Amino acid sequence: MSEMPAFSRWFINRSTGRRARSQLAAFGPHLVLPTGARLLELGAGRGGLSARLYEQYRPARLVVTDYDPAQVAEATEYLGRRWNGWPAGVELRSANALSLPFDRSTFDAVFAMDVLHHVEARHADYAQRPTALREIRRVLVPGGHFVFAEFTRVPDVEATLRDLGFVAEFGRRRWPHHLTAIYRRAPDEAPPPMDGSRKS
Ligand SMILES: C[S@@+](CC[C@H](N)C(=O)[O-])C[C@H]1O[C@@H](n2cnc3c(N)ncnc32)[C@H](O)[C@@H]1O
Repeated sequence: MSEMPAFSRWFINRSTGRRARSQLAAFGPHLVLPTGARLLELGAGRGGLSARLYEQYRPARLVVTDYDPAQVAEATEYLGRRWNGWPAGVELRSANALSLPFDRSTFDAVFAMDVLHHVEARHADYAQRPTALREIRRVLVPGGHFVFAEFTRVPDVEATLRDLGFVAEFGRRRWPHHLTAIYRRAPDEAPPPMDGSRKS
C-alpha cells in the first residue's frame, strides 16, 4: 500500500468524470439505495463518482474518503468547485480501507472503484484484501451493498465476499479481467470464519 506517484494520480484523476458516468450507467436500475441513504466511498480519488452519487441519489450522508491526503485535497477542490460550496451531509476525510474509522453498521452502501488492489504491497498480491473486505462488511448495515470495480485477483475477491456471506446482485465485465459488481451483505450478524489468506 502506498500513495500513488504524481503522474499516476494525474492520469487517473483526469478521467474521473467520464469513468463515473459510465459506472453509474452500468449499475442502472441495479443500484437501489434507500431514501436517506448513508454512503461511503473508499479510494474516491478526485471524487467523480461521489459527485454523481450525491447529485443522483441525494443521500442523507455521503462520506468521501481516500488514503492519500493529496487525493483528499484533489477531491476537496474538485467537488467544492463543482458544487460551488459544500452540501449538508457531505464529508471529506482520509481513511485507510484496512482500518476504517467508522462504527459497525454505519453505511447502507460502500463504494470502492478500482481501489482494492491498492491495499496490497504489490497489486497482484492477495495478502491484505480480506482485511479490507472484512472492514467493509463491518461498516455496512446488514443487507447493505458493496459496490466495486476491480481487475486483479477478481475470482479471489468474489470468493472472499462469498466467504463473508455477501451475495452477488449484479456484475458486468468490461474486459475479461475487469469486473464492476454489486454485492449485498447478508442480514446475519456474525461473520463466518475465514483463514484470511486465500491463494490462487
Ligand atoms: C486507481 S485510483 C481510483 C480512484 C477513484 N476510485 C476512481 O475510480 O477514479 C485508487 C485510489 O485508491 C487510493 N488508495 C490507495 N490505498 C488505499 C487504501 N489503503 N485505502 C483507501 N484508499 C486507498 C489511492 O490513493 C487512489 O486514489
